[in-house]
Amino acid sequence: MAVVDSIFEGLVLILPAMIANATPVIAGGKTPIDMGINFVDGRRLLGKGKTWEGLVAGILAGTFTGVLLTALHSEMWWIGFTVSVGAMAGDLTASFLKRRLNMESGAPAPIIDQLNYYVGAVAALYLVGYEFTLPVLLLLALIAGLLHFLANVLAYIMGLKEHPW
Ligand code: CTP
Ligand code: MG
Repeated sequence: MAVVDSIFEGLVLILPAMIANATPVIAGGKTPIDMGINFVDGRRLLGKGKTWEGLVAGILAGTFTGVLLTALHSEMWWIGFTVSVGAMAGDLTASFLKRRLNMESGAPAPIIDQLNYYVGAVAALYLVGYEFTLPVLLLLALIAGLLHFLANVLAYIMGLKEHPW
């Protein structure tokens, strides 16, 4: 297990996940991942906000970001893909949970909305042998959450998003 105790290295490792997470909002999409299917509770499995186009665009953009970051960290060519898949998995998990809690697509779930992708990316990194020290984990969570929040407010102002969260 590689222990990451540098904020800079942590940022490099997580940056593709941030790009992967922001891309679907810009790319949009129309084919729901759940294909309109309901769960046993009669609510949508994931909801209309999670599309295949967004998922694929996010993973591609994050992977590309990782390839660029190989200049800073030799393993980023494959870590970018790994954290992007983790970020998307975190985002889908959050939507799954929101639907189970009876929340409509787009309804705000503070902290969950801002940090789902970060938790997913950190979990993916852990699976491939990277662990953050507690200060790095917490400081990056703060940065990741704030960036998500600011990016969404910006997307809202630009008319890309219905709600600023
Ligand atoms: N999006 C997408 N595909 C994804 C993720 C996001 O197309 N896999 C797009 C959708 O247009 C979505 C927007 O990005 O509406 C914002 O994403 P997000 O806030 O994660 O989804 P919500 O619509 O808020 O839905 P949920 O309540 O499930 O979070
Ligand atoms: Mg949302």
